[in-house]
Amino acid sequence: MKTVSLTIDGKKLKAPQGQKLLWAALDNGIYIPNLCALREKTTPSASCRLCWVEIKGKLKPVTACTETVAAGMVVNTRGPAALRLARTALELLLSSNVVDCANCPANGTCELQKIAAHLGVKLKTKRFRKILRNLPLDSSSPEFSYDPNKCVLCGRCIWVCRQRLGIGTLGFAHRGFNRRMTTFADEPRAKSGCRGCAKCVAVCPTGALVLKEY
Ligand code: FES
Repeated sequence: MKTVSLTIDGKKLKAPQGQKLLWAALDNGIYIPNLCALREKTTPSASCRLCWVEIKGKLKPVTACTETVAAGMVVNTRGPAALRLARTALELLLSSNVVDCANCPANGTCELQKIAAHLGVKLKTKRFRKILRNLPLDSSSPEFSYDPNKCVLCGRCIWVCRQRLGIGTLGFAHRGFNRRMTTFADEPRAKSGCRGCAKCVAVCPTGALVLKEY
């Protein structure tokens, strides 16, 4: 396998040619916040807007999940412009999400907690006005429940259900603030053709999809 040499945060490393920068950094112990990326997804959706980095020679920050590594690339994951963009994206996300860590099954494993700590952002940030969606929970599945109020719309569950498993019961509906992950015709999960494999739960980065054993 051909590799390229690059530098991330002062660390010289090698990465497979053609690899996306996000995976090269993570594989080498350098954390870059991310929610919507999945390693198997060869075409990143780049929708969460959290993985900003600065690359020497580029005028503006770029998203690490869409940027391919290149020989001699010099990357700064902690540059002020990249951090400003990532913090704003996170705070906007938090402004419409329920934050109730003490009562959430994902407490301690939630990616939002990790990202907030990494970026120095309070989970109960007050920078933007809090507007909650107050959507009903779906507990119809015997295996898991879905709380759309904790969903970050990363699309990982949709991709896994459709592309990895070939089932495709999930999708996005509506736009903007009303956008949400749902089933065809908004049927409850139990009636949607869901086979209960719970692979969607395994890739959910927050407490939106949780196993009922919790
Ligand atoms: S991980 Fe890059 S935009 Fe979501």
